[in-house]
Amino acid sequence: MDKIVVQGGQKLKGEVFVSGAKNAVLPIMAAALLSEETSSIENVPNLRDVVTMMRLLRVLGAKVNFTSGTLEIKPGTGLKAVAPYHLVSTMRASVCVLGPLLTRLGQAEVSLPGGCIIGSRPIDLHLKGLQALGAEITIEHGYVKARASKGLRASDVYLGGSYGSSVLATGNVMMAATLARGTTYIENAACEPELVDLADFLAKMGAKIKGQGSHLIEIEGVRKLRGARHRIIPDRIEAGTFMVASAMSRGGDVTVRNSNPEHNHALLDKLRQAGVLVSKTKDTVRIRRNGLLRPVEVTTLPYPGFPTDLQAQMMALMTLTPGISVITEKIYPDRFIHVSELNRMGSKVFLEGSSAIVHGVSHLSGAPVMASDLRASAALVLAGLAAEGKTEVHRVYHLDRGYERIEEKLSALGASIKREKE
Ligand code: EPU
Repeated sequence: MDKIVVQGGQKLKGEVFVSGAKNAVLPIMAAALLSEETSSIENVPNLRDVVTMMRLLRVLGAKVNFTSGTLEIKPGTGLKAVAPYHLVSTMRASVCVLGPLLTRLGQAEVSLPGGCIIGSRPIDLHLKGLQALGAEITIEHGYVKARASKGLRASDVYLGGSYGSSVLATGNVMMAATLARGTTYIENAACEPELVDLADFLAKMGAKIKGQGSHLIEIEGVRKLRGARHRIIPDRIEAGTFMVASAMSRGGDVTVRNSNPEHNHALLDKLRQAGVLVSKTKDTVRIRRNGLLRPVEVTTLPYPGFPTDLQAQMMALMTLTPGISVITEKIYPDRFIHVSELNRMGSKVFLEGSSAIVHGVSHLSGAPVMASDLRASAALVLAGLAAEGKTEVHRVYHLDRGYERIEEKLSALGASIKREKE
């Protein structure tokens, strides 16, 4: 297994290019199953999660080819209905194949994904939505068994849960409804940009969708979908991670290219409040840090609120911000596994229910730390870049699930960072 070794204290300066969005490409790969024909997806990041999804699509019978950032997916006519445990358990996004398989084949068996380190992650909203479209669902031997022998039929589906709307449940129901009879309305739909990208891909396949990006999505079912060509949007979380890295670096001046600033309003607002200079064009954001940071309060919320996937990185920034900052986590109340590792580096973070109280310290000191999930790993790398001395981030496979060549990109900005074998 690899580890990332960071020698802290280097100033970050220059330009960095953002890759395609992980959380857009994964459901779009599942959506390709809705047609027999070949779909071609461009700007696909080379990530572990993408490789896992490729393996799953192959197990389901699709032909998949990935070269130079372009994925060709040919589902053909012989799709299988079973998504096995060994793949679904390593990546929750695999649950996205449930809607497409069910609507195309009239049946699907997908292993229940189970919880994960960032907290309990039920799929009741996915199942509620598919049941509303007429699926009969049972849970047997750890698998969701869904059947719709006469095909799915449209319905009104309300998808709000205790923690707001659900991104992948909205995606699953949207995909299933594309081939259902009649017009489906998803109420309290999630409006994340990745879902807009999914809807745009579905529209290119011939689906009739309106309202994507709002809380009410209308899908008029069609009989058949075709293959489509599509380019994935930039990864707003990767972009945000580089923005926070620049803000943490004394004298940092990083221009994040190929990003969509529209998708990072909540982060940019907080960075400005923290005293960071933000300038942007249509597809670049420049983040300059001069002087001390100011404390801020952040609450994670569904889009367009502050993303939970940038919470850990923002906490790394707060550890070096004079005064008291507060983060409240409203999506995953237990997503604080990075706190103890940051504290091992000298930060002073106290947990109070689903809030973290961060007392800024004058410096962090490099240490060996253990990555526990994807975004926590990114936060530890950022902390290492700003810390005094050497930080080793172990269990880097988490980072590889969602960040493409992160050590190369950060090195090009002046960071002293390398990957080593354990
Ligand atoms: N929830 C339910 N029932 C459900 C589904 C979700 O109660 O049936 C709850 C969850 O437990 C959570 C909240 O609703 O408290 C929101 O979860 P959501 O369903 O929106 O999450 P997701 O769709 O499973 C996606 C991203 C996550 C990201 C969340 C929230 C992908 C592949 N994953 O997950 O990304 O944190 O939305 O924005 O799109 C990551 O990239 O590191 C990551 C974890």
